[in-house]
Amino acid sequence: MSRRYLMCRPTFFAVDYAINPWMDPSAPVDADLAVAQWTHLRDTYRELGHTVDEIEPIPGLPDMVFAANGATVVDGIAYGAQFAFPERAAEGPAYLDWLAAHGFTPHAAKEINEGEGDILLAGRFVLAGTGFRTAHDAHAEAQELFGRPVVTLQLVDPRFYHLDTALTVLAENQIAYLPEAFSEGSRRVLARLFPDALLASAEDAAVLGLNAVSDGRHVVLPTQAVGLASQLAGRGFQPVPVDLSELLKAGGGPKCCTLELRS
Ligand code: ARG
Repeated sequence: MSRRYLMCRPTFFAVDYAINPWMDPSAPVDADLAVAQWTHLRDTYRELGHTVDEIEPIPGLPDMVFAANGATVVDGIAYGAQFAFPERAAEGPAYLDWLAAHGFTPHAAKEINEGEGDILLAGRFVLAGTGFRTAHDAHAEAQELFGRPVVTLQLVDPRFYHLDTALTVLAENQIAYLPEAFSEGSRRVLARLFPDALLASAEDAAVLGLNAVSDGRHVVLPTQAVGLASQLAGRGFQPVPVDLSELLKAGGGPKCCTLELRS
């Protein structure tokens, strides 16, 4: 099924600050390679038949490439992001302005939330992460705005600071996740809601393999997540590996670069 995505070219990408354990400002980043890898991701979506819109990158916002954090868009309603760290604060209004200009109904958030990084639509439910970035109160705000049941999930491992680094939605009622990234109670919630979920290995999660984008059939995921790719193939999905090694240095993968626009 064809999807519509919003992406932001990593023209000004850098690792200038560290707001997650993946980021090391003293390590070199190849900015040209980052753009080439990102371009390949964009073109991969287009080859799969999806529509990709682009938002203009803004100088001084090196993490703006991570479009998933820009908002959450469901039923044509855009729930704006309000970032936890000041370094990324200006991204929220930039994304919300773009969405408003492109026909989505904008809603400026009262509560701290980092968009689809922590808020994922999974069939009848909205799964929402908290613990590192998105505030628990934002889950109630999202539920009220979207009129869909929001399920709170507690993240416990700082390497998996956003929900989309620990869990991916594969189809309406199918997800894959890393149980260890969640609190005991949240693991039980996930097991109850998704008894047939695919459980990822620690190795695949450690290369952000779960930061994947599924259209229900093809699953775009980091090349390094070889075990997960074969698990997915075993379930009838078609893995589409992409190498985003430069963006991984900022703690991001394919899903982080991709905001789904649901009208
Ligand atoms: N450096 C960014 C940050 O820490 C990476 C964001 C990754 N995005 C995501 N959806 N997980 O905020």
